[in-house]
Formats: sequence, C-alpha cells, structure tokens
Amino acid sequence: MTHPRKTPVLVDCDTGIDDAMALLYLSAHDDVELVGVTTVFGNNTARQCAVNSLRVLELVGRTDVPVAVGAERPLVGEVTYLATHVHGSDGLGDAGLPLDVTARPVEETAVELIDRLSTEHAGELRILAIGPLTNLAHALEAIYGLTDRVHDVVIMGGAADAPGNQSPAAEANIIHDPEGAQTVISAAWETTLVPLDVTMREVLTDDHRTALDADGSPEAAFVSAATEFYFAAYGTESYGHRSSPCHDALAAGVLTGDVVPVTAPVIDVVVDCTDGPGRGATICDTRTRYRGFTDITGGNCRVVLETDGGFPEVLVAALTAGTPA
Ligand code: RIB
Ligand code: CA
Repeated sequence: MTHPRKTPVLVDCDTGIDDAMALLYLSAHDDVELVGVTTVFGNNTARQCAVNSLRVLELVGRTDVPVAVGAERPLVGEVTYLATHVHGSDGLGDAGLPLDVTARPVEETAVELIDRLSTEHAGELRILAIGPLTNLAHALEAIYGLTDRVHDVVIMGGAADAPGNQSPAAEANIIHDPEGAQTVISAAWETTLVPLDVTMREVLTDDHRTALDADGSPEAAFVSAATEFYFAAYGTESYGHRSSPCHDALAAGVLTGDVVPVTAPVIDVVVDCTDGPGRGATICDTRTRYRGFTDITGGNCRVVLETDGGFPEVLVAALTAGTPA
C-alpha cells in the first residue's frame, strides 16, 4: 500500500506558548512532515526560542527536526521589547519544562536552513510563519528564486478590521519588523494571513485545560501548564475572564486544512512602515465586503477574516490523540 506523500512544512517561529501549540499540533498531523524550524526574536531571543523549540519537540520525540537560530533584530532599528510578559521569562509560560534538552540548534543559520530545505523540497515546501517575518525577508534577499521553490506561506499576524494587540493599530509579529513584513507579504509567492480578527475569537478555556489534564501525555500536560500563564496574560487584560487565544496553532490549522475559513478573500495588504501611531498596521483592502468579499484582481494576500470558532476542540483532540485518557 503506497502511503500518501506528506506535505513538507518549515515553521519559522518565536517559540512562545502558542508557537509550541502549533509545533505539537503539526507533529501530531500524519500528513505533515515537519522538516525544519527557524527561530526569530519576538516572544524571547531567537536563541532562547530555538532552545524552546527543541524542548517542545523533545516532548514528542522529534529531536530529529533541525532547528536553526535566526535574526535577533529587525531589518530596521533595534528590538523594542520581548514579550516575556505574555509568554513568561523562559518563553514557555515558566511551566517547568526541563531546560536541559539533549538536542542543540544546528550550525546552519535560519537563511541557510531555508535555502537547503527549499532546495530539497523544491516546489512543495510550505512555510508556517508565526513570528516576526525577519528571517523570511532575509531569505528573500539572499536566495535567488526562493519564491519559486516555496509552495506557499501561511502567516499568523496582523489585524484587518480588528484592533492590534501591541498597539491600537498593530499586531505583535508585524510591529516587531514592519519592513520585514512588507517584504514578505509583497513578494511573488502565495501568502495567507491569519490575523487577530480570527485568532482572538478561537478561545481556549479551562474546559480545554481539563481535557488536556485528563490525557496524561507529557505534551498535553505541558500545554495545560503553559496555558495557565497565557490565561493570566490574556484573561484579565483582553477577555475579562480566564481564557486565551491559540494564535499560532490556528494558523497551523489553516495550513493543514483542519480550519476551513468562512471568509478569506484575496485582497491587497500593505504594512504601515511609517514612524507614526499606525506603524506596524496591516492595512487590508476589505472594500469588497459589500459584494460578498470577492477577491481583488491582483491581490497580494489571502486574508482569513472569519472562521467557525471550533478549532480549540480540534487542537485538544490533536494534543490528546497520542495516548489513552
Ligand atoms: O500577536 C500574536 C503573535 O505574537 C503570536 O505569534 C505570538 O506567539 C507572538 O509571536
Ligand atoms: Ca509566535
């Protein structure tokens, strides 16, 4: 019996709590081959995010996945903050996950790993970008023909009609590196943006944590423990009750097809790279809303504007599929 070919996926991330959810969710997906991870500053330093990615992958026995350390600063300017207030000082919710992983990041840089994997999987490689887009911007600059080698890029980031989370106008991944984001979104490859408009409406609650706690697997226990920190960060400030989004995991669900968007037109997206109050905003041309959100001819990005809200249950099912309750 021939097995269907797995889809090669590279994750570019700033492994934090929801990045970890995305890595574990993809690892549990039989039709996905997680071929590599590149890390970037954002939730923590790129190097700490690499260690965090290795810590998480070790939970599910995936120490074979190459993890490369990427950019520690944006294309323009310096790092303005690291989101330790949202993801904890270690980046994984200070949930006690052992720091002494056996695996180490590879010697390759993030750009070198992207170059190698996009050559090995030319035309098929899918990229899940769930941190600031600096690594991909550097890769576009350094690797001739990269957009032809990459099947598509699914990005967690931005806000179309919703407010930002790092400022009223800007979402964290984008405002960390607006110039990098503009470079990636405007490049000649297929991009899908999964913005706060949908990620803030797919909410994890204590019911989901109860299901994770009942599972008994190390990955479910870790996600439950780390999400406690996330609940504290998002619960009072954003939702007013104990809960959190699962931003990056939802983007991973869009990539796998587990999440079938209700509304996702191909439209024009421009990133505000000025130094005003709108810096880092993703200006999405949603003016086709009055005719059913039809696509804009020549639009540069598919933007997921509406999903059905059922992903948290899909995520919990994936995280608890490995072991009996
Ligand atoms: O704004 C949410 C995004 O910023 C997520 O990717 C989170 O992990 C942080 O990187
Ligand atoms: Ca992230």
